[in-house]
Amino acid sequence: MPKITVIGAGNVGATTVQRLAEKEMGDVVMVDIVPDLPQGKALDMMEAGPVCGFDTRVIGANGYEETKDSDVVVITSGIARKPGMSRDDLLKTNAGIVKSVTEQVAKTSPKAVLIVVSNPLDAMTYVAHKVSGFPAERVIGMAGVLDSARFRAFLAMEIGVSVEDVHATVLGGHGDTMVPVIKNTTVAGMPVTEFIPKERLEAIVQRTRDGGAEIVKLLKTGSAYYAPSASVAEMVESILKDKKRILPCAALCQGPYGVPGLFVGVPAVLGRGGVERIIEMKLSDEEKAGLQKSVAAVKELCETVDKLMAA
Ligand code: APR
Repeated sequence: MPKITVIGAGNVGATTVQRLAEKEMGDVVMVDIVPDLPQGKALDMMEAGPVCGFDTRVIGANGYEETKDSDVVVITSGIARKPGMSRDDLLKTNAGIVKSVTEQVAKTSPKAVLIVVSNPLDAMTYVAHKVSGFPAERVIGMAGVLDSARFRAFLAMEIGVSVEDVHATVLGGHGDTMVPVIKNTTVAGMPVTEFIPKERLEAIVQRTRDGGAEIVKLLKTGSAYYAPSASVAEMVESILKDKKRILPCAALCQGPYGVPGLFVGVPAVLGRGGVERIIEMKLSDEEKAGLQKSVAAVKELCETVDKLMAA
């Protein structure tokens, strides 16, 4: 039975555990620093088993002993930006949390595939890679599946068709600079441009870029977690079942798309070994320029992390 650890029993972490439990993806261990919280949520989920029809073992813990030799570890621990907190403060706090968590995980589950969810995503994936010393194929950031899902949801609402028939890939960093690839955005195999005029499509792309902020504005006290946890579960399933799905995620890109060794959103084949291959899509000049801009933003963020962590 595969073993999955989810660090952070907050909104994203606990919902991820619930989805993994319902899919019977393996034994699941949920870790949080808050005493009793992961134990309570784990027990509550186990008690849902008889009703929902799953036999997954869910364990809550405040330490790492129970997580030993996990096959996949999902890192969701971190804090959201609070009033008066600068972006650098958030970056530094979350980098510190991701660093300490990754150190523990690398010791207890040295063969795991790491999926990083904490924000700012691309920079936190960089930290996890650096600290773990894991080969790059075993460190992956979750952003592209979520960004693409948001884009697909908005397109399906606009056209009035099933989300299942809308396919799209969003590249680049998780943030304002993400790059939806319009040429590869299709509705039952037909180009999306046959369904939606250019200006509407641009508005939907912008809504996708602002997708996280739109939810924060509505929730007021937290950020999105239903779509993020669904995105993580899809990645975990592809890895553990060795499905080799092509999913956009933050992977170390050294060469493809002209990216010089940075974690950035690209379509990747996810299998038992983690990122097994990066797929290089043909991009328009505008998309190439957009991706370069995104890469530059991620690079700057990683340099800031290095400086903040050295300070
Ligand atoms: N070890 C374990 N858990 C920790 C640690 C740590 N060092 N530090 C914080 N946590 C836990 C908190 O106790 C909390 O329960 O992480 C959890 C975070 O949960 P929420 O505050 O509900 O945040 P959530 O909405 O789940 O988002 C988590 O994912 O999408 C990103 O931007 C989001 O960075 C954020 C992360």
